[in-house]
This record gives sequence, structure tokens and C-alpha cells, in this order.
Amino acid sequence: MIEDIEINDLRLLTQLVKEKYDYDFSNYAISSFKRRLLRILEIYKFDTFDKLLIKIKNEPVFFKEFLSEITVNVTEMFRDPSMWRELRDKVLPVLFQSHDSVKIWHAGCSSGEEVYSMAIMLKENGWLDKAKIFATDIDHTILSKAKEGKYAVKNMHELNDKNYFRFGGKTQLSDYYKVEGQHILMDKKLVSNITYMEHNLASGIAFAKVDLILCRNVLIYFNQNLQNDVFKLIHQSLFNYGYLIVGSKETLVWCDIASKFITVNNEEKIFKKIRD
Ligand SMILES: C[S@@+](CC[C@H](N)C(=O)[O-])C[C@H]1O[C@@H](n2cnc3c(N)ncnc32)[C@H](O)[C@@H]1O
Repeated sequence: MIEDIEINDLRLLTQLVKEKYDYDFSNYAISSFKRRLLRILEIYKFDTFDKLLIKIKNEPVFFKEFLSEITVNVTEMFRDPSMWRELRDKVLPVLFQSHDSVKIWHAGCSSGEEVYSMAIMLKENGWLDKAKIFATDIDHTILSKAKEGKYAVKNMHELNDKNYFRFGGKTQLSDYYKVEGQHILMDKKLVSNITYMEHNLASGIAFAKVDLILCRNVLIYFNQNLQNDVFKLIHQSLFNYGYLIVGSKETLVWCDIASKFITVNNEEKIFKKIRD
């Protein structure tokens, strides 16, 4: 069993992935990237690092699996309920008062629980028809799950229902899905205004200009250089006076474009763009 990964092997891997598939992992935070790689070596029972490199090089289908394993997809509905309350009570009223239509981008949406939370909250407040939502992720496989809106019943009861209750939803989460065996299927009417797309935040390419960006629990996997670049991309993708929400362990206060934002709520990690 391989217990550690040499820095040179990491370089070979990131170079190969960049050259062959045009994904750049060279600025991912090294410790979590290594942990994910060790997990992959164990799952696929590779006894040398070279075997992983050869498989990535020769098998594009395997590369898709690799991509799914290297990215962390953990998510929940109404994760950090107090943030969702703040969003509903303080941020969205301002946006919907001043705009006929509000554009929202979930960057790094994973399997879509965050997107459904947004759609439910918008619906409960009469805003859903006035919102246009983009949901993006680097991982094609996880995006398919997001589109399907099919989740384990177990998670709904143990996690999502509790979060929804703490958020102070107007009804019960079960009003928005139907149970089919061990799974639930989310109500597809909630997501008719949603466009799902593959998008790599590390590519530096902006694809739309929006009023609100949720980029939560994605930046923690990047090193400071990449975080800095992604914050620039986010700044570029937001209209003036648009809002950015990051994860509870993330912040933009140290980065190059920090002075172009004000902090709206430090606890909930809500920021507002104040200039181009
Ligand atoms: C931990 S999940 C966060 C999901 C959700 N935003 C939340 O907070 O619950 C991180 C997601 O970021 C995605 N991701 C990782 N690197 C990315 C990149 N370079 N561009 C876009 N998405 C990326 C992963 O595929 C994963 O689905």
C-alpha cells in the first residue's frame, strides 16, 4: 500500500492531466489533494503511482471517474441554516425589490442540494418565477446527479429535514419530494428555471454576469493563488451591488479584490460588490 506521494509524482500527474485533459490541478491545496489521491490509489488497488498515471493517460473514461474521486462532493440541503435565513430575510428582499429578474449562480453546486434549497426558499417567498439560476460544477457525473434530483431517504430525515426546520421553512421538506423506495425524487417544477452546466473555476473563464453568487465549500480545496484568481473571476461575474456568499471556513478579506467588496455579514460570509 502506498502511504505517501512524492512531490515529483504530483507534478507528473498535474502535468499529464493538464496536457491531456486541460484540467489544471496544480493550485489545489496540497494536503487535501494528496489525501484524495491516496484514497484513489487504495480504491483502485494501484500498488505503484505509475499505474495510476498510465491509466489516466490511456483511458479517458477512467479519467472521468478520477475527476469525481478527486473532488469532494459532500453537501446538504440548507447547509448552515442561519445563512439561509439571512439570505431570505436581508439579501434577497433587496435584490427582488430593485430587479425584475434576479440571476443567481451556484458555483460548485455538487449534487444539487444547495440548488434545491434555493429553489424552495424562492418558491416559499413568491420569487421563484423572477429568478434565473445557473448551477455549475467541474464534475460531469455529479452534475448528472444534480439534474436527476434523486437523493437517499436516509439523508433527508437525518440531515436535510433538520436543516430546513432550523432555517424556518414555511411547510415541510417532504412537500417538495416523493419517496420511491430508498430514494426520494425532488419536485421537478422547482427546477424549471435552472440551467446546469459544466464549468471549471480554475479555467479563468467567466460565462455570465449575475446578481448573486454562492460559491461555498469549494475554495477551501484551492491554494491561495487559485483562490485569488477565482475571487477575481467572481468579481468579474457579479454586477455592481451584487452579493457573494462563501463557505463558513472561507473568506475574501485577504485577497487582491477585497477592497472592491464590503462585508455584509461576517458570520454568514456574505459580501457585496461595491465597484468594478
Ligand atoms: C464540497 S462540494 C460543495 C457543494 C456545495 N456548494 C455546498 O457548499 O454544500 C465542492 C464542489 O466543488 C466542485 N469543484 C471542485 N473543483 C472545482 C472547480 N475547479 N470548478 C468548479 N467546481 C469545482 C466539486 O466537484 C464539488 O462538487
